[in-house]
Amino acid sequence: MRFQLSEEQLMIQQAARDFAQNELKPGVIERDEHQKFPAEQVKKLGELGFLGMMVSEKYNGSGLDALSYVLVMEELSKIDASASVVVSVNNSLVCYGLESYGSDYQKEKYLKPLAAGEKIGAFCLSEPEAGSDATSQQTTAEDKGDHYLLNGTKNWITNGSTASTYLVIAQTDKSLKHKGINAFIVEKGMEGFTVGPKENKLGIRGSDTHSLMFNDVKVPKENRIGEDGFGFKFAMKTLEGGRIGIAAQALGIAAGAYELALQYAQQRKAFGKPIAEHQAIAFKLADMATQIEAARMLVYKAAWLKDQGESYTLAGSMAKLYASKVAMDVTVEAVQIHGGYGFVKEYHVERLMRDAKITQIYEGTSEIQKMVISREIIR
Ligand code: CAA
Ligand code: FAD
Repeated sequence: MRFQLSEEQLMIQQAARDFAQNELKPGVIERDEHQKFPAEQVKKLGELGFLGMMVSEKYNGSGLDALSYVLVMEELSKIDASASVVVSVNNSLVCYGLESYGSDYQKEKYLKPLAAGEKIGAFCLSEPEAGSDATSQQTTAEDKGDHYLLNGTKNWITNGSTASTYLVIAQTDKSLKHKGINAFIVEKGMEGFTVGPKENKLGIRGSDTHSLMFNDVKVPKENRIGEDGFGFKFAMKTLEGGRIGIAAQALGIAAGAYELALQYAQQRKAFGKPIAEHQAIAFKLADMATQIEAARMLVYKAAWLKDQGESYTLAGSMAKLYASKVAMDVTVEAVQIHGGYGFVKEYHVERLMRDAKITQIYEGTSEIQKMVISREIIR
């Protein structure tokens, strides 16, 4: 067992760290305040190859491993989780889904511009009445011969208005339950497809979250992903990797808040010495550092298993469950260590605390991760 990153992984980690400091940090408070999507920054992330990191070079990707991807997610999330969720969705849900299960035609037409960062993708599973209970899809896709007719509403879609390519899960045959679900590629601009207003959120406020409405949208047959009835498995397999990305996001949020708290505790004086020298604060820092390190091990192990071609269902869910809890615990303590300053925006930790919460909700809530973990260990 080697706990050592390669030269290439260290270089990529440093590049992401520099990008976060130089490109994401300026303006992050304003973007959060005004719910502004980090458009320029996302464009640059694409130019750096961070939007198609694990896609093979043949399809315009960077051909890197999953461990490099989580290193990048961690570094970006230390500063701006609204930007890192774009990276996560594009890489691990959209590009991964298309490269693993798409046809040659779909890879040429849709994957290439997504991996190059020329276009952004969205993954559309959740609905007003189907979140955790993902098999109860109400969106329908009626087989009309050469095309499907798509009708329904998707909720909470990340990159909802900025995406050009949407992977949409829909029910084609209700009688077959989850075996009658399919995944489709829908393009922005297809007739009958509209984007709802932006959600006003607690955290990741720069990320654009929207509902999507489909009203008799004609989706060509060649845009169905995989065999008929493969859609639910497609969603589950894709989410397995997505959960590693969100676990890395949670890890980064925690690490970012911890770094700020450590620095602050060494500078801020109370009762004649830096607060870090008061044991109550020092012990908080010790707990935070230990939790973060444990989360990091789970996240890196899940990515490593993926890179080895081994099953990562259990490891990915464990990493997400634990890292998201650590993100909540550590960010709350980071605010506490900052005292009153932690409660105002300039010090960043209150935003990290608000951003942390979403990591316990999306890509499967913590309760759903426990369902996956318990099923894996009991069966
Ligand atoms: N891989 C392959 N197949 C899988 C699978 C997996 N990981 N998990 C389940 N399946 C298959 C099962 O084998 C079964 O198929 P068969 O009948 O052919 O065997 C079928 O799927 C149904 O499985 P279950 O009976 O286990 O289904 P369930 O109704 O109990 O639900 C669940 C399982 C894990 C709870 C699932 O519904 C789930 O993951 N829910 C959470 C949804 C979610 O994570 N949404 C995230 C949306 S995307 C997002 O959030 C993005 C973002 O924010 C940025
Ligand atoms: P529900 O499923 O209604 O759950 C409510 C509560 O009940 C939760 O605490 C849940 O854990 C609990 N619960 C439900 N079932 C069980 C059970 N069997 N046992 C124990 N507890 C249970 N979805 C997408 O498809 N694409 C996206 O890009 C996307 N981005 C998102 C971005 C944001 C900002 C948000 C808020 C959500 C996003 N989602 C996205 C949706 C997200 O995945 C869902 O919100 C999530 O899966 C939970 O579904 P729900 O909101 O319907 O909650």
